[in-house]
Amino acid sequence: MSVIKIGHVNLRVLDMAAARNHYENILGLIVTDEDSEGNLYLKGWDEWEKYSVILSPSEQAGMDHIAYKVENDSDLDSYANTIQNYGIEVENLDAGTLVDCGRALRFKLPSGHIMCLYADKTVVGKSVGNVNPAPWPLDVKGVGAHWLDHCLLVCPLDPENQVNTIADNVNFLSQCLGFRLTEQALVGPDADIQAVAFLTVTNTPHDIAFVPGPTAGFHHASFYLSSWGDILKAADIMAMNKVKMDVMPTRHGITRGETIYFFDPSGNRNETFAGLGYLATPDMPVITWTEEEIPRGIFYHSGELNTAFTEVYT
Ligand SMILES: [Fe+2]
Repeated sequence: MSVIKIGHVNLRVLDMAAARNHYENILGLIVTDEDSEGNLYLKGWDEWEKYSVILSPSEQAGMDHIAYKVENDSDLDSYANTIQNYGIEVENLDAGTLVDCGRALRFKLPSGHIMCLYADKTVVGKSVGNVNPAPWPLDVKGVGAHWLDHCLLVCPLDPENQVNTIADNVNFLSQCLGFRLTEQALVGPDADIQAVAFLTVTNTPHDIAFVPGPTAGFHHASFYLSSWGDILKAADIMAMNKVKMDVMPTRHGITRGETIYFFDPSGNRNETFAGLGYLATPDMPVITWTEEEIPRGIFYHSGELNTAFTEVYT
């Protein structure tokens, strides 16, 4: 029984035509479906499930929910019990409630974000197929993102009032769903307040991460590219398309990823993340960043945080 990967993120967008152009023509995702309620379903060329991104029309940007895939259908019963015993209410969703998915679970993380678990989603295959595949498809658009890599969520942290939903999320995801903490930043006079946390279920540095903020929100969804050269080309494509970027190509200390941060037309932040970072097998000791080195953990070259990066989110 295990959670095996990030499945999808459902983002709310203000202008569907503009959002479609951004995710399809600039990020290079492939539209696989569109429903009667105006939701758009997209996948990366290197993904095999029908979608990893749902765009939903809304008057407020942000994240509706994030979903992870479990190994077996029967895992859903076990996880429902485990989550309920932990003290978190779980909704059982009938097959099809998450479009093109089997039955699913829906619950709230301690931070208030909605998470779903599913075991089955329609498989449509990679663009390059499964037999003697080319390394990449000739018809890839824009940046050509391979797959949805991870999401970073903003969680309330108020040590004075003993509120730390980051630590609460880490406890819950570790104890109930088998996520493993890979990196953390510890702050406070005794360096015992977990203020940044990165967790994985695979062997990559993170499948989900949490940073602090005054209210729960969505910081970014990140899409995988394979190399630093791809990052440079992605920045070129964003500049050609006048995409608003808030962090130019650089490297993270945390995860060692190579990165660009930018915004979709609704103000939802995206990232292109390149490279493995490191191999995060289950026996890897947790990496800790100290409070004074957090800016270098985030942006390794400058060692400086820009306030917009921490304060602007949806
Ligand atoms: Fe990220």
